[in-house]
Amino acid sequence: MGQRVHWSGRLAFILAAAGSAIGLGNIWKFPYIAGVNGGGAFVLIYLLCIACVGLPVLISEIYIGQRTQSNAVKAFEKLSGDKKTFWSAPGYMGLISAILILSFYSVVGGWVLDFFYQSVSFQFQGKSAAEISDILGGMLGDPVRMSISHTLFMGLTVAMVYGGIKDGLERWTKILMPALLVLLVAMLVKSVSLDGFSAAISFLFSPDFSKLSPAGILEAVGHSFFTLSLGMGAMLTYGSYLNEKEDLLKTGLMIAFLDTFIALLAGVVIFSIVFSFDLEPASGPGLMFATLPGLLAQMPGGDYLSIIFFMLVLFAALSSAVSILEVAITYFSETLNKDRKKVTLGAGLVIYLMAYLPLFSFNYWKEVKVFGLNFFDLFDSTSSHYLLPIGGLMISLFMGWRLGLDDSMRVTSGNKPLALGLMWLTRVVAPIAIAVVIYQKVVA
Ligand code: TRP
Repeated sequence: MGQRVHWSGRLAFILAAAGSAIGLGNIWKFPYIAGVNGGGAFVLIYLLCIACVGLPVLISEIYIGQRTQSNAVKAFEKLSGDKKTFWSAPGYMGLISAILILSFYSVVGGWVLDFFYQSVSFQFQGKSAAEISDILGGMLGDPVRMSISHTLFMGLTVAMVYGGIKDGLERWTKILMPALLVLLVAMLVKSVSLDGFSAAISFLFSPDFSKLSPAGILEAVGHSFFTLSLGMGAMLTYGSYLNEKEDLLKTGLMIAFLDTFIALLAGVVIFSIVFSFDLEPASGPGLMFATLPGLLAQMPGGDYLSIIFFMLVLFAALSSAVSILEVAITYFSETLNKDRKKVTLGAGLVIYLMAYLPLFSFNYWKEVKVFGLNFFDLFDSTSSHYLLPIGGLMISLFMGWRLGLDDSMRVTSGNKPLALGLMWLTRVVAPIAIAVVIYQKVVA
């Protein structure tokens, strides 16, 4: 294998990893699943999962990638004496997750593009959240329109991966991620003045456990993986392009903190609007699209803010989509020893076509159900509820048992109490938590 490219430094890595983590999962998915699962109790479990399960797995993934400088399948083999083992499983499962996740992700990315276009052509001018909700309904019922935006989104993703990770991605994340944060904070300031603000805070932060079902708990665990891009080797792959001896503990904490902060911000803003305009908190995947343009329309210069907002969300989505595709590209180009560019086009095409299953599940195939779910929910559920947590479980066990204290010490730069903490989190706490939740859901 030739020289492996590397990130230009620690900051570049943090930005790219945060760019992967922060995406539609934070701004679109988190608020909508928090709404569907009753709010507070779900949020609390989600935060617990991030701290006790997500963070240790995140650090493990980055570490395994950095140490082996290999793709997600080979990394586990390298650390198991260079042979195929049981531990290659999370690598292979990750490839399947990548395909499933990117196919529905690209559909939602297409919605963002569509809304971006509508902002640019000032179609939200003077419209209320309820009216925008109708626009959303019209879009979902129109497969041709969704197909155009999905094609564009997937095209952009492929183009970015095609150009290699270093040039395009690094440069843009540096500017656009902080910009997203600033705009969300501005929207937060505006939402404080809305009638629904206090209702939003209590919906999100006062837990009522009677509203939480086993399915909701599984959703929280699954989402902690999804939002941190864990369980399928994305962070591992990014870590494999990291060369220096980094303090991975601090790096991991930083990524997890930024990711969680953005999700909570988006949640507070969205629910302030929901409760101010009598929208339905449990309204599902359309939630973000129905609410935010409505708020922006009320702010001074709102028409322009709306353009900026969807552009930033689009970018957040792209920098995540790129990391999903990258897992497959790094693997196939290295294992099959094929040209990276060809692999990018090939894998991009397969996923592009797969995405028509979730795309049509909002219109033509609305009634088609597999295990009681339409294709969109099936892809989401199979990956987030099962593949990612199981992948994360194995990565955690691998880090805790197969690698162990020496490796944990390297992660914490020789701090023994912290290393012991990490080792026991990955050995026992995270695996048991994941296993119990999956078991409960399967039995329930
Ligand atoms: N974390 C991203 C988000 O929140 C999505 C994502 C990117 C992802 N890479 C991933 C999810 C790898 C699972 C696995 O939008």
